[in-house]
Amino acid sequence: MSHASLPWHIAWERALYADDGFFRTSRPADHFRTNAHVGAFAGAVAELARRTGAETVVDLGAGGGELVTALWAELSGVRLMGVELASRPAGLPDDIEWQDALPDRIDGLLIANEWLDNVPCDVVELDDHDVPRELLVVPGTGEETLGDPHESSWLRTWWPMSEPGQRAEVGSARDVVWADAVSRVHGTAVAIDYGHVLGDRPPFGSLRSYVDGRELDVLPDGTRDVTAHVAVDAVAHAVGGTLLRQGEALTRLGVDGSRPPLDLAHRDPAAYVRALGRAGEAGELLATGGLGDFWWIVTDTLGHGTLAP
Ligand SMILES: C[S@@+](CC[C@H](N)C(=O)[O-])C[C@H]1O[C@@H](n2cnc3c(N)ncnc32)[C@H](O)[C@@H]1O
Repeated sequence: MSHASLPWHIAWERALYADDGFFRTSRPADHFRTNAHVGAFAGAVAELARRTGAETVVDLGAGGGELVTALWAELSGVRLMGVELASRPAGLPDDIEWQDALPDRIDGLLIANEWLDNVPCDVVELDDHDVPRELLVVPGTGEETLGDPHESSWLRTWWPMSEPGQRAEVGSARDVVWADAVSRVHGTAVAIDYGHVLGDRPPFGSLRSYVDGRELDVLPDGTRDVTAHVAVDAVAHAVGGTLLRQGEALTRLGVDGSRPPLDLAHRDPAAYVRALGRAGEAGELLATGGLGDFWWIVTDTLGHGTLAP
């Protein structure tokens, strides 16, 4: 095992995306439950596609293809594409396209659910002289040391630090990759993720590792996910996007977690049970303190007023 220190963003990139990296050797659904695994989410994305007249829906960071597969059952006459570094999942319907890079042009809807949090960043710490310094990490042990001073306008603008020992994930790389993605879209682009805004940044950053549904010590060694919350206001600024919480976005798309009327249980018990299932899924997607707190960064590149209340 190498004991060499690397800048965090390099160690992170290798840990997730090298040939033996976490997302090359396992699928996200093996480790965590996301929006894409909740049926009612695809219903809402399909509704957004219909409202915006999307000819194509592209899912960036498509994981095991769960969302595009569910959309395939919901939408007809719409081109569906998963963009994913990992290989095409077995059993994906033949007419769903699958490739490892975004197309140059997307006429319709681009969705990226829990993609930006896995885009590696520089990690910095404020030293005892109030200088932000790049953090270096030994991938196999997680041991960290302070590297060179890190000066950037992104940090000054979006994540100012005031106390020695405070840390930040420098989100400029995320702003750049999302701006590139949005520039390809003639229609609507939506990035969905957990995040924070200026004035509410986590003082010691938000680097985390997960595997098999459990949180573990952060380690960029390929055995576990490495993720950090997204500075969503910076990303929205970079693309001229609108920020809203998932609960609000899904409510505008008609997702409703209320219990079906009790008399349905008498009239049509099977329909009642199906409706209860849908309400349960909606409740999970809308939950405050859970998925409902996720941020949606919505960019309407054609000025159609997507997701207006
Ligand atoms: C946390 S998973 C989310 C998967 C899925 N969207 C979901 O919500 O369940 C992030 C996914 O993004 C993929 N990914 C990361 N960078 C990528 C890139 N540049 N192009 C395509 N896929 C990428 C990873 O391989 C991983 O499957």
